[in-house]
Amino acid sequence: MSKESKKFEDDPDTTGHVWDGIEEFDNPMPRWWLWTLYLCIIWAIGYTIAYPAWPMINQATTGVLGWSTRADVANEIAAVEEGNAAINAKLASVELTAITSDAELNTYAASAGNAVFKTWCVQCHGAGAAGAKGYPNLLDDDWLWGGDMAAIHTTVTHGIRNEDSDDARYSEMPAFGRDELLEPAEIDQVVNYVMSLSGDAQDVEKVAAGAVVFEDNCSSCHAKDGTGDREQGAPNLADAIWLYGGDYATLTETVSNARYGVMPAWNTRLTEWQIRAVTAYVHQLGGGE
Ligand code: HEC
Ligand code: HEC
Repeated sequence: MSKESKKFEDDPDTTGHVWDGIEEFDNPMPRWWLWTLYLCIIWAIGYTIAYPAWPMINQATTGVLGWSTRADVANEIAAVEEGNAAINAKLASVELTAITSDAELNTYAASAGNAVFKTWCVQCHGAGAAGAKGYPNLLDDDWLWGGDMAAIHTTVTHGIRNEDSDDARYSEMPAFGRDELLEPAEIDQVVNYVMSLSGDAQDVEKVAAGAVVFEDNCSSCHAKDGTGDREQGAPNLADAIWLYGGDYATLTETVSNARYGVMPAWNTRLTEWQIRAVTAYVHQLGGGE
């Protein structure tokens, strides 16, 4: 502090801090700055009271307004549902066949049904509805239980061979081997015959013998010509489309131990308009009748 710095009349007092001869004026904070600070503090206190803010052990303080992102989403969903209430009510109440003949309703149903399908059906029927072993392909026009709107609606509403709905589709193929209804030789013959139905040529003698076994044991469900019976969900065995498989080993397994495909009932989980929407969706996938 060798040099004395110059002082002017209207200079404010200094704080007494000096660096290399530079002194610091003791200026007050500007008014506008201070007010902004106070307002921010007030706003921050208000905010933490009104909205979720302070982290606690299990969750943050909830705030007196009770706002949450979860509630926001719920409100948005409720708003969409309210917006669709009229068309959903219409969907749930019109004749099933009126859905497909009303272009607007059908388009709406199919797109809403697509969402239902993605949530509830893809686990078993596959994302593209092409199915898998034991789970039917819903894209083709090969139907176990029927492919018009009414048949699909019944299948989806009550399901198949489940315990939850008394009206579930039901039928049971006997286990011809396990329950000793047929000799292994007869099973061998009838499997050869079934393979021949879809043009998969087999041992001619076995096919001839198998035709008799089929007539006696299988035709009551699969029909005389093997084309199946939708009343009993008995698949067409003559179209080379297989639910479980058409090779010798798989057919032998099917005839020996039978199959028991189960689909849940959906009327306990989905509303009527959702069931109709997914029915319309499945119907327009390609195989609808
Ligand atoms: C847990 C697995 C599972 C789920 C989930 C499931 N299904 Fe199925 N579905 C099946 C099985 C298995 C069959 C075949 C049963 C049989 O062998 O007769 C079937 C059959 C069907 C059929 C009859 C096809 C025909 O050829 O007649 C339709 C239609 C159908 N499902 C639609 C749906 C829809 C729509 C959903 C979603 C709401 C759904 N399924 C969900 C297992 C399932
Ligand atoms: C009481 C009725 C009934 C009788 C009798 C019956 N079936 Fe079936 N069969 C069914 C049903 C129902 C299915 C479908 C089972 C399922 O999807 O779970 C089926 C499925 C099959 C399949 C599987 C088809 C596929 O796409 O994978 C074959 C093969 C078959 N039966 C062959 C026979 C033969 C051969 C006989 C006689 C020896 C026979 N069935 C007797 C009802 C019957």
